[in-house]
Amino acid sequence: MSTSPHPTHPYAQAGVVGTGAMGRGIAQLLAQSGVAVRLFDSNPDAVAAAIAQLGDTFGKLAEKGRMSAEAAAAATSRLQAAATLEALAGCDLIVEAIVERLDAKRALFAALEPIVGESAALATNTSSLSVTAIAAGCKRPERVVGWHFFNPVPLMKVVEVVDGARTDPGLVERMVALSRATGHLPVVARDTPGFIVNHAGRAFGTESLKALSEGVADIPTIDRILREQVGFDGSGFRLGPFELMDLTGLDVSHPVMESIYRQFYDEPRFRPTVITAQRMDAGLFGRKTGEGFYSYRDGRAVAPGEPPVPVVAAPPPVWVAQGPRQAMVAETAASLGATIETGDEPSPGALVLLAPLGLDASAAARGLPAARAVAIDTLFPIATGACQRRVLMTTPATHPQWRDAAHALFAADGTKVSVLRDSPGFIAQRVVAMIVSVATEIAQQRIASPGDIDTAVRIGLGYPRGPLTMGNMLGASTVLEILSNIHQLTGDPRYRPGAWLRRRAQLGLSLLQDD
Ligand SMILES: NC(=O)c1ccc[n+]([C@@H]2O[C@H](COP(=O)([O-])OP(=O)(O)OC[C@H]3O[C@@H](n4cnc5c(N)ncnc54)[C@H](O)[C@@H]3O)[C@@H](O)[C@H]2O)c1
Repeated sequence: MSTSPHPTHPYAQAGVVGTGAMGRGIAQLLAQSGVAVRLFDSNPDAVAAAIAQLGDTFGKLAEKGRMSAEAAAAATSRLQAAATLEALAGCDLIVEAIVERLDAKRALFAALEPIVGESAALATNTSSLSVTAIAAGCKRPERVVGWHFFNPVPLMKVVEVVDGARTDPGLVERMVALSRATGHLPVVARDTPGFIVNHAGRAFGTESLKALSEGVADIPTIDRILREQVGFDGSGFRLGPFELMDLTGLDVSHPVMESIYRQFYDEPRFRPTVITAQRMDAGLFGRKTGEGFYSYRDGRAVAPGEPPVPVVAAPPPVWVAQGPRQAMVAETAASLGATIETGDEPSPGALVLLAPLGLDASAAARGLPAARAVAIDTLFPIATGACQRRVLMTTPATHPQWRDAAHALFAADGTKVSVLRDSPGFIAQRVVAMIVSVATEIAQQRIASPGDIDTAVRIGLGYPRGPLTMGNMLGASTVLEILSNIHQLTGDPRYRPGAWLRRRAQLGLSLLQDD
């Protein structure tokens, strides 16, 4: 093994096998941070193309002043083609980014073991296979580690270092040091299905699909709600779940949904709906096929416009049901011009407003005149100027006249309004609570530290905050209340709150609190 000139890690000569999208990015990071890289691919043209493209990339970075001309030339000179696997002899680290198949990755590492030195590390960029299972094909499984990057590698500044059942703990530390040296933020994950990011990412799409399958709202409405109603100090999700699935492609996201669900032995939290399986069969993959949850014309989604704000002659008086969010709803309604009734019961001419957490409007309207009942989601701010969208929900008994009155009232200041059919937890409550729920389960299972879970998900999935921080901002006890109520109302074990969340909510602790 060569001696590393790097102070924090021992790697001087790496080999990258598989020079597609990911292998190229990984080779770029290594070469930029002073590690020499030999590139091998079963398709020799792919190696030549990768080296040419990386040379171009370094040149462009130098032109933009992002690296010096000398550094660009040095990085380019660190890239070398390997014509055969044998040419990787002497590498002290091999990173594979070949096709995502267990047999192929096992065969590759088994073939490399006698070529590279005894102490050389074998890292896999697999996103869905078990690192332990890949290592099981090796004579020395302790030298195998997961090094899971995100696409595009240079821009997605987080990497999961995956600790297989037999991985040498010292190797995990060395990979953490190497990751830092490349400028990426390493997070350490125990080898479990989906590691951190693809595991934590199950809630957003899956829960939105569940709401769609229940007929709560149509696709554009769910996307608009998650983009515009959800806001953590003003920042929300950049894309709605259906927009995101269209971008990724259902041919990629549906198998991940199924595989994580199956690998966790049918854990109800991850249970997919039949919607995606069927749409995949129909070839409705998303942008790449021109048709997914949306149709694409000239690369742009064609989404139907929003339903118009109903015209209502005079706003009715408003009565707000008792509860912790009563004042918030009454204040907003009053600021929008409504007269607020303060009696114990609504007068016969009053619009009845409800503000449930985790309950549906029907459950919240128990004992009240349901024909005049409309619920408003208060999980995120609803005051004028503090929100982009307000979300209402009706009971099956709500008369359209009262639904329209509530819609017109809450749109009176120009804020957008969505109206849902009845759903325990509206859309935002159930989706965000499930995101927190899944992340707290990852923490409970000690797959990663709470801090690493938060960082990995925020950067890897581009969420406005890490999921545990989201839970803290909303209040752990609020998230617990939402999940407990949905669980009780539906009987679906998918919504059962886990111990990590319950204990911290009960003790008033941060969801980032380890024990
Ligand atoms: N694309 C992503 O978003 C992403 C993200 C994280 C991880 N990954 C993982 O990274 C790996 C590579 O993905 P990609 O998107 O770069 O794929 P890709 O298809 O762009 O590139 C794969 C390359 O590997 C080569 N290859 C295939 N089998 C080989 C073998 N047996 N020996 C040598 N070369 C071989 C192919 O010729 C190709 O050039 C997969 O394991 C994938 O799951 C992908």
